[in-house]
Amino acid sequence: MPIDDNSNGADDDALALYVHWPFCLSRCPYCDFNAHVRETIDQGRWRDALLNELSYWAAGMPDRSLTSIFFGGGTPSLMDPSTVAAVINAAANHWAFADDIEVTLEANPTSIEAAKFADLRAAGVNRVSIGVQALDNDALGFLGRGHDHDQAIAALKLAEKTFPSFSFDLIYARPGQTTESWTSELQEALTLAGDHLSLYQLTIEKGTPFYAEERAGEFVLPEEDSAAALFDITQEICDQQGMPAYEISNHARPGSECRHNITYWEGGDYVGAGPGAHGRLTINHKVYATEQIPGPENWLKAVEESGHATRNRTAIDPAARVEEIFMMGLRLTDGLSRDVFWARTGMELEDALEPRRLRPLLTANYLILDDNGIRATEEGRLRLNAILAALLT
Ligand SMILES: C[S@@+](CC[C@H](N)C(=O)[O-])C[C@H]1O[C@@H](n2cnc3c(N)ncnc32)[C@H](O)[C@@H]1O
Ligand code: SF4
Repeated sequence: MPIDDNSNGADDDALALYVHWPFCLSRCPYCDFNAHVRETIDQGRWRDALLNELSYWAAGMPDRSLTSIFFGGGTPSLMDPSTVAAVINAAANHWAFADDIEVTLEANPTSIEAAKFADLRAAGVNRVSIGVQALDNDALGFLGRGHDHDQAIAALKLAEKTFPSFSFDLIYARPGQTTESWTSELQEALTLAGDHLSLYQLTIEKGTPFYAEERAGEFVLPEEDSAAALFDITQEICDQQGMPAYEISNHARPGSECRHNITYWEGGDYVGAGPGAHGRLTINHKVYATEQIPGPENWLKAVEESGHATRNRTAIDPAARVEEIFMMGLRLTDGLSRDVFWARTGMELEDALEPRRLRPLLTANYLILDDNGIRATEEGRLRLNAILAALLT
């Protein structure tokens, strides 16, 4: 599907770039990301294909300024650092780089990957996001991870020395986890943290081994009340330590929020390259949702044959766009500002919301609407999905 209209109708020229690397050393039983295990990967073919798909997008989106690049996966720390360098250099040739461009790469903490940190830094990566997941060896075993507690610490220390900025992920609300055990794990995490932490509650995704195991009663997740208590204690401890949540699952010292993810949550434009990558592109005042072919081999074949592997490029209708801007913006602690809402939709907040839906949510103190914009209270963020359903459908 060629891009036939090169004019840029976005309100600003900022653009983010997501690059998907779909391979992992093994599959974790909870994960439903587009991730695959292969014995061999032809890094040269993959590099050429990623560069080709990047050229395709750049031809349709010229004159933009890149504010962030995010290598996600899968496990992009398994990429050859020379491939990472080639992608960053190609992006620099296609687009202007914002002065403080953020270049993040997701890394697993095994020793093979940590050994690449210096080369990834030399390639232009300035931030890593490390999938630690737990600081408890039994929990790491349960989560099917290929690393242990000490390897995780070693990777974090090395990341701290190598990159200007680093973050790591933990998964909590695991079977059997108490507020006491999570408190001590989180306290340890905070002593290791740099300026950013992602703290996800374990979710059971359809089609994963955990889905079948949970249904078979092989483990039991914490009840809703216990999970809410774990969420509350997480907010309390992180607030005390200067790492408040700026999004449901993301915590940062003020000023160190992940720029790339903020682009998603504020409805900004981003290009998605690589298998299964999604994009949002404003072209001539229309916003398009793009999606690449997810299967690695099919993606590679399509790019080699036609220069890109776009399987969908659909104009989002204005009502659906308004909904997605609310759904993403209300994830942020600061919520959706009037300026951002106007820039994305050309509407005032009040014109987009039905008073009979909004009023009860304001009265119940789940949402706040003021001169800045609209945001969810802490109570509201605890039940955000229900609130969005009540507000929007
Ligand atoms: C693309 S994945 C991870 C990248 C990298 N391969 C890794 O495993 O570290 C991004 C993050 O999503 C989180 N995640 C994935 N599946 C999850 C699930 N079912 N429940 C909670 N968090 C999940 C994990 O913390 C993971 O680090
Ligand atoms: S959690 Fe990371 S390493 Fe595990 S399967 Fe998912 S993407 Fe791969």
